[in-house]
Amino acid sequence: MKKLYFGTNLKMYKNIHQTTSYLKDLISLTKDISQEEIELFVIPSYTSLSSAAGSIDRNYVKLGAQNMCWEEEGQFTGEISPLMLKEMNLDLVMIGHSERRHVFGETDITENKKVKCALEHDFTTLLCIGESLEEKNFDISNEVLRTQLKIGFHNIPTEKISKIWVAYEPVWSIGVNGVPASYQYAEEKHKVIKECLQELFGDAAKAIPVLYGGSVNPQNANDLITQPSIDGLFVGRSAWHADDFNKLIRDAKKAYETA
Ligand code: PGA
Repeated sequence: MKKLYFGTNLKMYKNIHQTTSYLKDLISLTKDISQEEIELFVIPSYTSLSSAAGSIDRNYVKLGAQNMCWEEEGQFTGEISPLMLKEMNLDLVMIGHSERRHVFGETDITENKKVKCALEHDFTTLLCIGESLEEKNFDISNEVLRTQLKIGFHNIPTEKISKIWVAYEPVWSIGVNGVPASYQYAEEKHKVIKECLQELFGDAAKAIPVLYGGSVNPQNANDLITQPSIDGLFVGRSAWHADDFNKLIRDAKKAYETA
């Protein structure tokens, strides 16, 4: 059985206290689940990271940052350096979330610089990709996903593969106005992504987990996780109460095991 990945990005929600108490609750609810069966990760705000990192048992949950600069230091007002994230002993960095690309104008070339830098600093690097509604309507989703992967992972050596994760999050499926992708559509796109990763990295690419994100909820999680090319769920709103996330994880795990 493959390991299942479950994670959440807390976006610009939860203050320091709320983040720490959410993490403590989540750990106490899920710590009986073997770490060999699931990989659990949470990506809080920068301001919560330091106290979260110091107050939870990191064996149960990987902590990540929502973004990172591609330089170690310099005249980059408002940015966070990989060395600053290293100081907190972080495990994971997310690059290219849809909101970074579409609200803050990041490009594939920017994401490539960040991916390279994150891997050079030995972070597990979660690259998020996904087509917009317009691109989907023009029927160029596969080309867009392949472009995002080929530029995002340009010049990344194969030996870094064990540190690479990918999240497929179609832009039209994310957030309060999002329409969740059907599990059939998600599976089809995950296949395209896995084929492209194989072209880029060869057979070693089979080790790269590809997660689905975008309006994952208790109604669609089980159908998504049981698809052969979907290795995990990257959840927003439906994960922000520890009880709900715990239930979603357990139900999805059971559905996968009994499928
Ligand atoms: P959502 O967020 O589950 O609330 O749609 C997903 C994400 O942005 O990663």
